[in-house]
Amino acid sequence: MAGRMKDKVIIVSGGFGVLGRAVGQAAIEAGACVALIGHGRPEEIAPHDRLMAIGGVDLEDLAPTTRAFEAVAARWNKIDGLANIAGGFRWQTLEGGDLAVWPDLFRMNVLTAATTMKAGLPFLRAARGAIVNVAAAAAQDAKAGMGAYAASKSGVLRLTESAAEELKDAGVRVNAILPTIIDTPRNRKDMPNADFTRWAQPDQIARTILFLLSDDASAITGAELLIASRS
Ligand SMILES: NC(=O)c1ccc[n+]([C@@H]2O[C@H](COP(=O)([O-])OP(=O)(O)OC[C@H]3O[C@@H](n4cnc5c(N)ncnc54)[C@H](OP(=O)(O)O)[C@@H]3O)[C@@H](O)[C@H]2O)c1
Repeated sequence: MAGRMKDKVIIVSGGFGVLGRAVGQAAIEAGACVALIGHGRPEEIAPHDRLMAIGGVDLEDLAPTTRAFEAVAARWNKIDGLANIAGGFRWQTLEGGDLAVWPDLFRMNVLTAATTMKAGLPFLRAARGAIVNVAAAAAQDAKAGMGAYAASKSGVLRLTESAAEELKDAGVRVNAILPTIIDTPRNRKDMPNADFTRWAQPDQIARTILFLLSDDASAITGAELLIASRS
């Protein structure tokens, strides 16, 4: 992995969350310049000369998102890759749940991805770059209580599919990954009796995302890659 991303400039949306930080770390280790963008506190991120941390950005809002992309391009002259990690989860049954959660999850998962892609496209077109959207395995196989979440992540898949078609002649690749359960502190708290060793580690998923952003995946666009944990 070391050196694979040398001279690449990568933006990580939702970069202050668990998976976002792991992608940022892995991209730095692989030689990239990295910008973490989203809700979050830049002062919590260890500084590095190839890292920008741009907090306080609502990724549902095109104007501040565009300003963040412009700041990254102003510093490093280009943007090669976008890892769309921003998103959120709520478990609720249809019968007992709150319908207000449905548009909330749509905004968190689909609208954030559409906004960052729209903000990033002028730069990604110029670089013939790549996008990886994080959907979820639930988009293919939704269990009880996952309706709103699975519907929103299915939206991420259709957005990926459509954008891959829209951008194929521009040389911009767009792929999606579908993780099952990731080993995060929140999941450990929510599922204390689970066997955590069977869950995918954030750095394993991060390396998959970097592969799809790298030139090693230059023939891959429109893919939906399931990342199954062993649970
Ligand atoms: N954890 C899992 O088991 C799992 C499984 C499958 C898929 N995924 C997906 O993987 C991604 C990362 O998961 P994670 O566990 O690392 O979650 P996380 O720690 O909650 O990270 C998500 C980050 O996105 C940010 N974000 C959400 N909406 C935003 C917005 N409108 N503007 C700016 N930032 C926003 C969050 O900030 P705030 O929290 O401050 O809003 C948070 O920093 C998500 O898309 C999730 O749906 C996770």
